Amino acid sequence: MTNESQAWKNLETHYQKLREVHLRRLFADDPKRGERMTLKAAGLFLDYSKNRVTDETLELLFALAEESRLQERIGAMFTGDKINFTEGRAVLHTALRMPRGSSVTVDGNNVIPEVQAVLDRMTEFADRVRSGAWKGHTGKRIRNVINIGIGGSDLGPVMAYEALRFYSDRNLTFRFVSNVDGTDLAEAVRDLDPAETLFIVSSKTFTTLETITNAKAARAWLVEGLGNNEQAVARHFVAVSTNATEVKKFGIDTSNMFEFWDWVGGRYSMCSAIGLSTMIAIGPDNFRALLRGMHEMDEHFRTAPIARNLPALIGLLGIWYTSFFGAATAAVLPYDQYLKRFPAYLQQLTMESNGKYVTRAGQRVGYDTCPIYWGEPGTNGQHSFYQLIHQGTRLIPCDFIAFAQPLNPVGQQHDLLIANLCAQSEALAFGKTKEEVEAEGTPAWLAPHRVFDGNRPSNTIFAERLAPQSLGKLVALYEHAVFTQGVIWNIDSFDQWGVELGKVLARRIVPELSSPAEPDLSHDSSTNNLIRYYRRLKKETA
Ligand code: F6P
Repeated sequence: MTNESQAWKNLETHYQKLREVHLRRLFADDPKRGERMTLKAAGLFLDYSKNRVTDETLELLFALAEESRLQERIGAMFTGDKINFTEGRAVLHTALRMPRGSSVTVDGNNVIPEVQAVLDRMTEFADRVRSGAWKGHTGKRIRNVINIGIGGSDLGPVMAYEALRFYSDRNLTFRFVSNVDGTDLAEAVRDLDPAETLFIVSSKTFTTLETITNAKAARAWLVEGLGNNEQAVARHFVAVSTNATEVKKFGIDTSNMFEFWDWVGGRYSMCSAIGLSTMIAIGPDNFRALLRGMHEMDEHFRTAPIARNLPALIGLLGIWYTSFFGAATAAVLPYDQYLKRFPAYLQQLTMESNGKYVTRAGQRVGYDTCPIYWGEPGTNGQHSFYQLIHQGTRLIPCDFIAFAQPLNPVGQQHDLLIANLCAQSEALAFGKTKEEVEAEGTPAWLAPHRVFDGNRPSNTIFAERLAPQSLGKLVALYEHAVFTQGVIWNIDSFDQWGVELGKVLARRIVPELSSPAEPDLSHDSSTNNLIRYYRRLKKETA
């Protein structure tokens, strides 16, 4: 058990010593701390000096990584061991971004040629859509692309589209439909011409209720809009899936299907064919650059010693706050408007991966695992929830993310943006003492309200500019930080059994809501009552 290991116990003892130590003191004791506690790897720069750690803390965290055999487990992932053992699957999103000519075997089969063949097909298709060579049923070119998917089949594509919008073809409109709430699809198509619209139905399993329901509704919209001609579907629907049988059943020609494999987890799939909308938006060369960025970070993670390993370091710092300080949440604060969906993307990546209370041995963990991830782009968050990060009662470690070059330089605005980032991490770490507040002439009664305790930790990540390659590095950085944490917490980061129960129960409730006759209900009294109340209200307000 992780928390029975010597390294864990040493960290617990060390925590008791360090919990009262202020960052002000750590910085005063080491004037070079801000330069020393930085790490540059694969083109990303991390300042981790504003964390509540000493060199000893880091040594103990590295020892924990060693005791957890992190490096060995990294090797096992990269070589295709079935580390997602509850589902009996390899975990090989890293193979999706390996260069042509590499080799990784799953069940005795080198998967790289298949990966590259799908990328080549995606390239050909994306080029045809972008150039107008791919025509809709009526002969018009495609001007709108709608990705229908949910979870990993939506969040990666929508995040990447928003993040890389600067590089996208502005003659094409991209929309993303995920929610089974009919509003999502209705609003996505309301101003579009079906003759110019292409739907990408993205679903690993092709059985997900939300996606299949939305895809059927989209098909009805399209067929109706094109003279009730079912033949139109072939030119307006493509699929991305691992499940050819279900794709065929849905009515999409499998020659218009882009394949991926069960060894790609949904939340790790934006670099697979699930990225088709991304490739159409930014073009195949830019998509390849995204993959190169990911691969660069993969190689760093695979080969760098733990003490100089960026994802491992970020993962370990997260463990320090979650499992020792008891931090329940972590904020991700990108100072770049294009990264507005990055926190939402990270929520699935982190929480669906590590939101587990059972160890690999099937026992209940004796420590806290994944915190709640949340965030908004700066500076908007500063005028909303930062108050709580500065003066609230909870410890919230923050990751600030920024770029040196703006993509849209407007006057001095980029310097203003970055000044705010630097100011926030400074204020969080050092705060403002009672003495400082009083020295400003603040009356005694007001002073407590204006004091900032500080000692609130943060990481700052800088890259040159937001581009496909740097986005790839950022995504892979967090993927591997999540992996690191899963190894230490000794959980399976690659299954998601926790989402199953709700799905099963919903399937049972659907007919109870829609049956004309009053159903016999056998849920608990609250669920029964909710169902009855909804049925009555629906009828009364129809
Ligand atoms: O409900 C969870 C989940 O299985 C995610 O892990 C996945 O990304 C999402 O549903 C969508 O699944 P699919 O791509 O099979 O439609």
